[in-house]
Amino acid sequence: MSSAIDLRSDTVTRPTAAMREAIARAEVGDDVYGEDPTVNRLQERAAELLGKECALFVPTGTMANQIALMLHCDRGDAVLVGEGAHCMLYESGAGPAWAGVSFQVVGAGGLYDAGALEAALHPPSDYHYPRSRLVALENTHNRAGGRVFPQRDVVAIAELARSRRLALHLDGARIWNASQATGRSPAELAACCDTVSACFSKGLGAPVGSVIAGTAEAMGRARRLRKMLGGGMRQAGVLAAAASYALEHHRVRLAEDHDNAKRLAAGVAELPGVRCEVAETETNIVNFDLDDAGAFVKRAAARGVLVNATGPTRVRAVTHLDVSASDIDRALAVLAELLP
Ligand SMILES: Cc1ncc(COP(=O)(O)O)c(C=O)c1O
Repeated sequence: MSSAIDLRSDTVTRPTAAMREAIARAEVGDDVYGEDPTVNRLQERAAELLGKECALFVPTGTMANQIALMLHCDRGDAVLVGEGAHCMLYESGAGPAWAGVSFQVVGAGGLYDAGALEAALHPPSDYHYPRSRLVALENTHNRAGGRVFPQRDVVAIAELARSRRLALHLDGARIWNASQATGRSPAELAACCDTVSACFSKGLGAPVGSVIAGTAEAMGRARRLRKMLGGGMRQAGVLAAAASYALEHHRVRLAEDHDNAKRLAAGVAELPGVRCEVAETETNIVNFDLDDAGAFVKRAAARGVLVNATGPTRVRAVTHLDVSASDIDRALAVLAELLP
């Protein structure tokens, strides 16, 4: 039997031979002392691409988000997020546990506009409510199916946030996908945000690593928070080398993942009993609905197509570096046999 087609996530990629060579060649030092040249170069390059003064290499996107919550909030503060935000839903309760924040959901579906934010804000003088302190956007939005946050909404939300003295963090785990899909640079997408996080271990295909970026002052504080969270790494250049390789060689090819996702969405939309909004497949994530997602996922896995159930009726499939257009066609043929 041919190998499984793994569409569960873009985190399942394995380092390529060229990336492994870059890892093997990496010059290293002790990064807790700030002495790893490969980490330092990666941080400078990431800061440049994200349009911020400084960036800090961290092991995971979760740690980058948690550092952002701690940078901007005091215990008891509220963070305004779109429905299904990763930092609220998928980080094991870290926000309330470590940063002491609560989350308030704005709008529905993950993406929202400034009007929805305005409607959600509590009067600051009413101390029955937690103090709203931070707006955390996600672009692309994972749970919303990799949708791109419309830039005009980001700009209007940022203006409103400023006028209410709220900080703005962008969870840009997949900002590279948003950039590729819109033709806007990562720096432009992050321009009105105080901090931005970005991952190398999703669509870019590195094995480990993310950054948080912002002002030099904020990143100085972030360095202490990273240490406090156990993320101070030593000869991390071996990881940074993979991330740098991914940054320089795997950004442009994200367009292939987006084409493959569209091909998959168009194919599943044709299957009997499946509902899929093809036009909402903007990047590398495809959401579709059918009667029993759990049973479908098990049957697909038994036939070598791995996808995730993200709700009772919802299935998520993600395209990435290790999936080709012919894999998509093969996956579609299998799924069609499951839904006669
Ligand atoms: C939008 C978003 N933010 C943050 C993360 C967390 O990244 P990590 O798995 O590296 O902790 C993810 C992971 O999938 C994500 O999708």
